[in-house]
Amino acid sequence: MADHLYIFDTTLRDGEQVPGCQLNTIEKIQVAKQLEALGVDVIEAGFPVSSPGDFNSVIEISKAVTWPTICALTRAVEKDIDCAAEALAYAKHKRIHTGIGTSDLHIKYKFNSTREEIIERAVSAVKYAKRYVEDVEFYAEDAGRTDNEYLARVVEAVIKAGATVVNIPDTTGYCLPHEYGQKIKYLMEHVDGIDKAIISTHCHNDLGMATACTLEGVLNGARQVEVTINGIGERAGNTSAEEVAMILKCHHHLGITTNINTTKIAATSRLVSSLMNMPIQPNKAIVGRNAFAHSSGIHQDGILKNVETYEIINPKEVGIDDNSIILTARSGHAALKHRLEVLGVVVNDDQLHSIYENFLALADKKKEVTDDDVLVLAGEERKNAHAIRLDYLQVTSGQGVRPVAAVTLDIAGEKFSSAADGNGPVDAAINAIRNIIRRQVTVKEFTIQANSRGSNDIGKVHMQVEFDGRIYYGFGANTDIIAASAEAYVDCINKFKK
Ligand code: KIV
Ligand code: ZN
Repeated sequence: MADHLYIFDTTLRDGEQVPGCQLNTIEKIQVAKQLEALGVDVIEAGFPVSSPGDFNSVIEISKAVTWPTICALTRAVEKDIDCAAEALAYAKHKRIHTGIGTSDLHIKYKFNSTREEIIERAVSAVKYAKRYVEDVEFYAEDAGRTDNEYLARVVEAVIKAGATVVNIPDTTGYCLPHEYGQKIKYLMEHVDGIDKAIISTHCHNDLGMATACTLEGVLNGARQVEVTINGIGERAGNTSAEEVAMILKCHHHLGITTNINTTKIAATSRLVSSLMNMPIQPNKAIVGRNAFAHSSGIHQDGILKNVETYEIINPKEVGIDDNSIILTARSGHAALKHRLEVLGVVVNDDQLHSIYENFLALADKKKEVTDDDVLVLAGEERKNAHAIRLDYLQVTSGQGVRPVAAVTLDIAGEKFSSAADGNGPVDAAINAIRNIIRRQVTVKEFTIQANSRGSNDIGKVHMQVEFDGRIYYGFGANTDIIAASAEAYVDCINKFKK
């Protein structure tokens, strides 16, 4: 009989911790509903004690989804656990995820404590969480660098205290895959009562080994994996959900099944990338733009003769459909709404109307509107709530000409204009905006990316600026890349803390 593997998605917690990836509650609900449609078993919805925003998101996600267990993260601290329990009040299936660092480095430098005291704190936290919920997961932070014998004692103690799941994070992404697998095997063989809990993997990708470690963990007995969509997460990210799901599907002889509906992978990946302003590298496994693109002549020839010569996954299995409808200026509201729904974006009639207006303008400029374009248009609609908007932009530039820009901003309904020159058209536009807002804003990072292909394409601009000692991230998209850059800058300004 096949073994079932539980998929624990932490896109909205470990993934959302990444600077610039923060979502508001409505966006988090959108992602959570898409994760539910994808078939994940557990959604880690946030770290409630960390901010009122996280607290509210856990409440709202709990109300919005039905099937997956909703999980809230805590430290091994009573007030964190009280807060998590309160935030989970509306969840149909709920889990508290509590834990503490177990490596000697964490014990000594983070907690100034001892191994024995850490076990006591771990056990108390689990017992305390059990007062609120039956399903308690314990994480041994930095388990990847924790000595196996001690780790086994911690795991045994927390299972005895009632932990239903024990998470073994390779927090720093340090382990070699076979080492991580051996760690899980050691626990399976040396912990009394291991059969009373599920062992979970949680791997980070600092050395590019997160998926390999996760797989080794599963092959050695772990039956839950903690993953994120597109592998987003702190630093180099977490294990990517789509990679694990497709490895197990391609290698079905391993006999390990998941509840993932793989045909929802592409839409989920795009939604997360678009909402979090986190571009996907083109060669990213499974969801990168080039993941199924065969460019070499030899490969193309082979593919034409028999697709299996160079393709181990049918793109349709991950929801990429070559025959998917491409929208044009003739497409109506219903077609656009359907496409948005397929992509996981739910809109009301007013929002649809506003997106449709922008869609028509885009379809006029580039004839065929792709799924990526539709997601960009949905993102633009979200900016309608912004207090500051780019109302007008004109730029003169060219070979041998000092670029000059004229800009009008709409600030809470009032118009302000200015002009400036610069060492390039983007610099001129930003200088003109800076003249209006009169604040010391420094651009720290600036990337331009074509949405799909073709010179008539939408350009996507990701920008990072520093203001008042803080970093802010902005996004702009336009067939005019100077306008996209100015929009990204204005997006940053809208996020400044007052
Ligand atoms: O990487 C890690 O150790 C974590 C824990 C908080 C689960 O994210
Ligand atoms: Zn983590």
